Amino acid sequence: MLSLDNVFDRDDLLDFERRLRARLGWDGDIEYVCEPKLDGVAVSLLYRQGVLERAATRGDGAIGEDITHNVRTISSVPLCLLEGDYPTLLEVRGEVYLPWAGFAEVNEQARAQGEKVFVNPRNAAAGSLRQLDPGITARRPLQMCCHGVGGVAGGELPASHFGILQALRSWGLRISGESAEVSGIERCLDYHEQLGERRDQLGYDIDGTVCKVNSLALQQTLGHTARAPRWAVACKFPAQEELTRLLEVEFQVGRTGAITPVARLEPVFVGGVTVSSATLHNRDECTRLGLRVGDTVVLRRAGDVIPQVVSVVLDRRPADSRAIHFPERCPVCGSAVLQQDDAAVLRCSGGLVCAAQQKEAIKHFASRKAMNIQGLGDRRVAQLLQQGLIHTVADLYRSQTGPLAGKSAHKLVTSIAQSRNTSMARFLYALGIPQVGWTTALNLCRHFESWPGLCAATLEQLLEVKDVGPVVAEQVRSFFDSSEAMAVVQELLALGVNWPATEPAPGQAQPLQDTTWVLTGSLESLTREQAKAALEHLGAKVSSSISSKTDHLVAGSQAGSKLRRARQLGIPVMGEQALLELLRSAADR
Ligand code: IVH
Repeated sequence: MLSLDNVFDRDDLLDFERRLRARLGWDGDIEYVCEPKLDGVAVSLLYRQGVLERAATRGDGAIGEDITHNVRTISSVPLCLLEGDYPTLLEVRGEVYLPWAGFAEVNEQARAQGEKVFVNPRNAAAGSLRQLDPGITARRPLQMCCHGVGGVAGGELPASHFGILQALRSWGLRISGESAEVSGIERCLDYHEQLGERRDQLGYDIDGTVCKVNSLALQQTLGHTARAPRWAVACKFPAQEELTRLLEVEFQVGRTGAITPVARLEPVFVGGVTVSSATLHNRDECTRLGLRVGDTVVLRRAGDVIPQVVSVVLDRRPADSRAIHFPERCPVCGSAVLQQDDAAVLRCSGGLVCAAQQKEAIKHFASRKAMNIQGLGDRRVAQLLQQGLIHTVADLYRSQTGPLAGKSAHKLVTSIAQSRNTSMARFLYALGIPQVGWTTALNLCRHFESWPGLCAATLEQLLEVKDVGPVVAEQVRSFFDSSEAMAVVQELLALGVNWPATEPAPGQAQPLQDTTWVLTGSLESLTREQAKAALEHLGAKVSSSISSKTDHLVAGSQAGSKLRRARQLGIPVMGEQALLELLRSAADR
C-alpha cells in the first residue's frame, strides 16, 4: 500500500495539476474525485468469492499485521459481499476509524474502569485493532470506510474511480457519503474549502481532502513513484492549534477510582470553541510531554471534540515553573493511591468509601441505559451522599419517605419506584462491573437467561458467551465472588428490584433499526408478507417504493423497474439467499 503526497495550499495544488498535464500532454479539463482524508488506520480487506478471507493493516506499506479476527467484529465490514458481479478475488482498501461519540464512550469506560485512556480517536482505533481478544474490539464502535481497491482477479471493475466506489457500495461495503466527482482543480479547491467549513460537524476526524484522477486509464498512464501515486494528492487542513498557559493540574477520581490529571488552562479560542481545560490522561502522558505548571503549551483541537495538549514551548518556560505533583492520597477521600502494574494508571484504594467513586457508581446505576432513574444527576447524588442519606444504591429503594422526602423529590421518588421493574440486562449493566458495558451485559443475559445461572457461571462457562474473553470473564467472576458486592445485589433484590422473565430488555437495539427496505420480485421460500414481517421484527422499516432514502432492496425473481431504479441510485441489492442468511444470523444474535 502506497502513501499520498501532501499539499498545504492553493499554489501547491495548482502545481499538482500542472504536473499531471505535463505528463499527460493534455490541456482539457481533468475529472477528479474528492474525498475526505480520514484520520484512522489504513486497512486492506481480501474477499475471495465474495467472502472475507483476510484483513491486514498497512504496516510499513509492504508488510502489515493480520487483523482478520478483529476486523470481523466491525459491523460496517460485511463478512459476505452482497450479490452482484464482484471479481473472484477483490482487495478493498479503506480506513478504520472511531467516530467522536464512540471515542468518548470508549474513554469514558476506560476511565471508569481505571484503564489507560486513548489520546485521540486514531490511537483508539489502532489500539482496538491490535487487541488480542476480539471480544474487546467488538465493544469498540469502530467503522470502516472504503476508498479504493488494490489487487483484483477474475472480474472487471468500472473504468472510473467513482464507478468503483459505487460498485463497492452495491456489494455492501461502506464508502464515504462525502465523495464527489468534480471537473478541474479549481473545483477540488472549492470542495476542500467547503469540507473544511463542515469539518466540525462530521462526527469523526479528518485531516484533509484526497483528490484523485477519476479515470483509471489516466491513473495507469500516470503511474506512481516509489512512495505515492502520481494521480492522487492529499490537501491537508491547517492544524487548529493555539498557544496557552498551564495554570494548574487537578486530579479527578472516576467510578472505579482511576485518578486522571486534568490541565486547567488560560482560556483560549481554538477550533471554534473556548477551551479552559484538557485531560492529560495519565502520568506517562505528562512525562512524555515533559510538562510543568506555568508552561506555555500548544493546544490542538483537530475538529475533534476533545482538546489535546500537544507539546510544551520550552523557550517560554518561566523561571517559577513547578513540577506536576501526583497525589499519594486520593484528593477526594484521602485514601492511599495505588499504582497499577502497568504503571500509568493511579487509583484511589478507597473503593466505595471514596465519595467520588460512590457518586460515579450511583450515577451509573441511575443512568438511562441502566435503571433509568430520572432526576438523579450529579448534583443530587453529591448532595445525598454529603448529607449521609445514601451510601449504596440499595439505600435508594429503602424508604419512600426517608432520604428522599419532600415535595421536590416527588418525581424522583416515583422514578425510583418505577425503576424496580427492569430487565436482567439493565440490572447487570447498572451494577457497573468493570469491563461489562451494555452489549456485554446483553450477551451475558441472553446466554444465561436466569440470574442464579449467571451468578454461578464458571470462568469456562463465561468464556462461551459471545464476545467474552478472559479479561471480561475474570471481572464478572470476581464481582460475583465478592461478598460486599453480592450483599448489595441481594439487598436490591430483597427491596423489590425484579424483572419479568420474558420481557425483552427495554431500549434493546434492534439490528435493522433505522434502515429502510424495499421488497420486489417474487421470493420462493417465503411470501412477501412473511419477509416484510421478518424484517420489521428486526426493526427495519419496509417501504413500497424506492427512493434515495432506501438502504436495501431485496430482489426476487422477475424483479423489474424497482431493481433498475435501485441500480441507478446505487442502492445495495440483495437476493433471496442473502436475505435468508441475514434473517438466520439475526436470529442467532
Ligand atoms: S487513497 C495509494 N483515499 O491516507 C494510496 N487514502 O497518506 C491511496 N487515507 O494510507 C490512498 N483517507 O489509508 C486514500 N479517501 C482516502 C483516504 C486515504 C485516508 C489514508 C490511507 C493512506 C494514507 C496515505
